[in-house]
Amino acid sequence: MIRHEIRPSAAALRLSGEGAFEALARARELEAFGHDVIHLEVGEPDFATPAHVKRAGIAAIERNATHYSPSAGIAPLRDAVADYAARFRGMAPFARENVVISPGLKPLIWNVLAALLDPGDEVIFADPAYPAYAGGSAYLQAKAVPIPLLESTGFRLDLDMLAAKISPRTKVLALNSPHNPTGGVLTRDDLETIARLAIENDVTVISDEIYSRNIYDGAFVSIASLDGMRDRTIVLDGFSKAYAMTGWRLGYGVMPAKIAKTVALIGQNNYSCTATFVQEAGIEALTGPDDAVTEMVAEFRIRRDAIVAGLNGLPGISCMRPDGAFYAFPNVSGVTPDDRKLASFFLEEAHVAGLAGAGFGAAGRGYMRFSYANSLANIETAIERMRAVLPRFPG
Ligand SMILES: Cc1ncc(COP(=O)(O)O)c(C=O)c1O
Repeated sequence: MIRHEIRPSAAALRLSGEGAFEALARARELEAFGHDVIHLEVGEPDFATPAHVKRAGIAAIERNATHYSPSAGIAPLRDAVADYAARFRGMAPFARENVVISPGLKPLIWNVLAALLDPGDEVIFADPAYPAYAGGSAYLQAKAVPIPLLESTGFRLDLDMLAAKISPRTKVLALNSPHNPTGGVLTRDDLETIARLAIENDVTVISDEIYSRNIYDGAFVSIASLDGMRDRTIVLDGFSKAYAMTGWRLGYGVMPAKIAKTVALIGQNNYSCTATFVQEAGIEALTGPDDAVTEMVAEFRIRRDAIVAGLNGLPGISCMRPDGAFYAFPNVSGVTPDDRKLASFFLEEAHVAGLAGAGFGAAGRGYMRFSYANSLANIETAIERMRAVLPRFPG
């Protein structure tokens, strides 16, 4: 018999996993052995999806909205997204042709990158960053051009470095504000400079605004609302973080109509469409009462202050106060430069699941990410457990 080994493609071998899902898998194993793990690894709100949104989803199932939908999404949700973009982001009015719906934002990131990038094109993004941008770019053989975010400058994008890194091959600049994993928020001034650079150098901007509702000081500014940016920006957002809808899988993009067609075509080739009743629930989230979002944000602010204070009280650890998202990104280099070892130690010994900063890029080394989308009581217990085991860290 001829032995056969099924071999993955070279493109697949360029991918790496997402630390959050890997840590979650190990945490679940520990739970299966009866350990009580505190989950500060995965970025998902612990709140229930707002009741009126759940009811809309259930009603849609009962109305048999359980069949295929157009690949770009159902028209009423696309209209609601376009309307929300104008209302919330101050984007010049867009129509349904500008909107693509997807089963979660993550596949849409992939589709947008696939719609834009040829081998050798350069993509600029922050380091550390949400890993989907590096993954998709590597798969497509585009060249990643990372810009290190430095704690000393509040994890803000260094705009001089950005200007220096733009080359004639730069096709895409991927922004994410509020930012995963640092919680940093770009100011209007930052965005104006970035917009000027994008226009001068004819670069397309992908603006991942999935944490745009998770902002604690000041108002959110979308780069898409700035002069000259409407036709060169692809705004990405979704329902996971603002409406505690991670498991529903619902995301969207707002972009010029021509590229929206290409992005939707890639989705059609991939997953065909997004679950229809999930989209119906999305309409309710965008157009129904908004109080649940405001309440969640108020609670996140309290938790942010608690986790930052708690982490700053641990020996060898210091943590800046993040302005957005729901992540604390402490510097742990006073304990060890090996953040992976420390993350694994906290998980195995304290049963506190957090993430190694290095999983978000080379500049994340020496940091950890803790999601504070967990109860105040759990956050406080997690801090106490880490305090108790730290003296035993083997170094
Ligand atoms: C920056 C960023 N973009 C996109 C996503 C994807 O969200 P989802 O696929 O749940 O819509 C996440 C999730 O953690 C994220 O942090």
